[in-house]
Amino acid sequence: MLEHNPFGLNRTAHAIYWFSRDLAPNRFPLRRIALYIDGMRMLSLPSGESVPVLGQGTWFMGERAAHAADEAAALRLGIDLGLTLIDTAEMYGDGGAEEVVADAIAGRREEVFLVSKVLPENASRRGTLEACQRSLRRLGTDRIDLYLLHWSGSHPLAETVAAFHRLQEEGKIRHWGVSNLDTGEMEQVFALPGGHDCATDQVLYNLTRRGIEFDLLPWCRKQRMPIMAYSPIEQGRMLGHPALAAVAARHNATPAQIALAWLLRQEDVIVIPKAADPQHVRENRAAVSIMLAPDDLAALDRAFPPPARKRPLEML
Ligand SMILES: NC(=O)c1ccc[n+]([C@@H]2O[C@H](COP(=O)([O-])OP(=O)(O)OC[C@H]3O[C@@H](n4cnc5c(N)ncnc54)[C@H](OP(=O)(O)O)[C@@H]3O)[C@@H](O)[C@H]2O)c1
Repeated sequence: MLEHNPFGLNRTAHAIYWFSRDLAPNRFPLRRIALYIDGMRMLSLPSGESVPVLGQGTWFMGERAAHAADEAAALRLGIDLGLTLIDTAEMYGDGGAEEVVADAIAGRREEVFLVSKVLPENASRRGTLEACQRSLRRLGTDRIDLYLLHWSGSHPLAETVAAFHRLQEEGKIRHWGVSNLDTGEMEQVFALPGGHDCATDQVLYNLTRRGIEFDLLPWCRKQRMPIMAYSPIEQGRMLGHPALAAVAARHNATPAQIALAWLLRQEDVIVIPKAADPQHVRENRAAVSIMLAPDDLAALDRAFPPPARKRPLEML
């Protein structure tokens, strides 16, 4: 079914709807279960804004000047392919990654949903405002679409969130969120004034790091807040696993694509692999179309069992 396309005249949008059994009065029986823009599946942030389920990471970019042009070119290729959510941070390459992103998005800012992060040591009320200003300058833009606290440190969460609200009022950031916060700290964020506006928790999540499935992921689902899965292929360390190779062979795919497809099968998870190699960028984009069968999922569960009890949130 076609619907109004807010994403530009030259883009195609289609949505898949499902008849809900919910017969409550005033409820429309059709529920949208998926929206695709130019073939890319989209997901709704709590604000209702749509972002692609697959984006691009930038950790380790901007560290060496000799690689910067290739890294920016890889990001541009990703944008061309619909990977328009770009995740960066003031930490990466000491600001160098944000400069690579600036190069990649020059002249096409409107196409991109830009995510950056403030370091915990800068996350006081005033420090957050200043860090954001520095990031904006390096990124060559007047706004960050989603600004995250990279992990929690000594500054009270209340101060950081107050600074995020101020930045929103000033139009310097559009949404805010957090990263590497476990369930207890998420509850603290949600208890703050305006805490329910938190757009995401960006966390380590892949087949070899399933701890969040025990409590954090269900908690976020209850709040209807998507999570963002970082290091989705465990920085390459999981790719030699025989179970992954066996499922990959059944789909004529690569192990990395299966690792991404496993995350992407969940409708409320945004996945942000980093790829500086253009072949990796293309492979990752194609993973959105891979549908894992129940047999595949069972084989992956046997090789990478889900958590049976609470595990403290891991981070890299
Ligand atoms: N919030 C946080 O604390 C936090 C922590 C870690 C990461 N992150 C974010 O999440 C992003 C992704 O995580 P990550 O960079 O740690 O790890 P990752 O995405 O799991 O892995 C990146 C590595 O995998 C390689 N790769 C990418 N696609 C591949 C493919 N299709 N086949 C084989 N190898 C492939 C890349 O190589 P090439 O580059 O050579 O293509 C790179 O060496 C980061 O870049 C960052 O933006 C956030």
